[in-house]
Amino acid sequence: MADITGIRTPFYLYDLDLLKKTVSLASSEAGRYGYYIHYAIKANNDPVISSIIRDRGLGADCVSGNEVRRSLEYGFSPDTIVYAGVGKTDEEIKLALSENIFCFNCESVEELEVIGEIARVYGFKARVALRVNPAIEAETHRYITTGLDENKFGISLPHLKKALDICSNSDEIEFVGLHFHIGSQITSLEPYRRLCERVNSIWIEFDIERSGGRILNLGGGFGIDYTDPENNPIPDFGSFFALFNRHLSLPAGTEVRFELGRSLVGQCGRIVTRVLYTKKGVGKKFVITDAGMTELMRPSLYQASHRIINATSTGNPEKYDVVGPVCESTDVFGKDVILPETARGDIIHILSCGAYAGSMTLNFNLRDSAPSFYESGGSILTQTDLQGLNLQNR
Ligand code: LLP
Repeated sequence: MADITGIRTPFYLYDLDLLKKTVSLASSEAGRYGYYIHYAIKANNDPVISSIIRDRGLGADCVSGNEVRRSLEYGFSPDTIVYAGVGKTDEEIKLALSENIFCFNCESVEELEVIGEIARVYGFKARVALRVNPAIEAETHRYITTGLDENKFGISLPHLKKALDICSNSDEIEFVGLHFHIGSQITSLEPYRRLCERVNSIWIEFDIERSGGRILNLGGGFGIDYTDPENNPIPDFGSFFALFNRHLSLPAGTEVRFELGRSLVGQCGRIVTRVLYTKKGVGKKFVITDAGMTELMRPSLYQASHRIINATSTGNPEKYDVVGPVCESTDVFGKDVILPETARGDIIHILSCGAYAGSMTLNFNLRDSAPSFYESGGSILTQTDLQGLNLQNR
């Protein structure tokens, strides 16, 4: 890695070589079965990262009007954009209709009626996939499970027939298929196998083919290795897509799509932060970094654990609680972390911060926002450098 000790901390550092390798592999493994991937831009909406992904032919998966707008600005073609979310506003719906995005992933009967009404008033045709809540346990953290009855997401099975009827009786709505997303950071393939079985039976029970359903969007959620990212930087996309190929049985011609976020970008980012103090507590020592939960909320929000390394010390191993400077007791990156003896000024890296770190920043405590740098071919570049180099084919 190039020398980064002179750069003001904290900052995000993205490994573009790893990103390209990851996205190309995901794309080629999906391509074996004719599957298509939309990038869940909520994971990281950085312009360089998003453009690299767009250049590799992926579409965009959005959950707000601004994400739709931003994806268009980044050059994602409207016909590759899908748009989910349980609380789309009238303005957001209008925007997506007027930009002629590929489809809404519609989350309720009530929303479907509003989309139909707005399309009628403004003279648009709305393509709609119905997001179904399949009541499947995703075996992940409770806060990032989305496909259970208790979750707000999707249309539950008792209401699906009504939603299909609304579509078939509407001149403004074109039903394109079904959408599912059962959760995030799913590290076992078993929930996905159960999802395939559920999808197969829903397709038959609700006669999706006869209703005009030709798209099956299975969402995202494929997890990454937070424990050992250095040795496991790219998720096993081969096994992931092969599982769907093995277990889905759908009418010929059904297009299968995914919305991957974390698995594409999670391992390519890290937070680089400096030690402000090593503070002695009672029975423990704290390493206080200049990055905090404002740059990485995951540990305080979901008890997530990220690998933390000291990039500058070679001292003897010691145990520390690594904490940020923010005025919250949950501003803790890791408890009892073993690091080489750490001192003020040392550089700490928090790994696996490519997804849901930079896109979930807070400005609580009026903290400055952390900039991003990009590592490519052993050099550290800024966004301006990258534009200057005109790396179109990045
Ligand atoms: N599709 C839909 C409808 C989603 O809600 C999500 C993520 C994705 C796709 C992409 O999921 P992925 O492949 O990235 O797992 N902030 C949390 C994760 C929230 C995920 C929200 N939805 C975290 O840091 O773990």
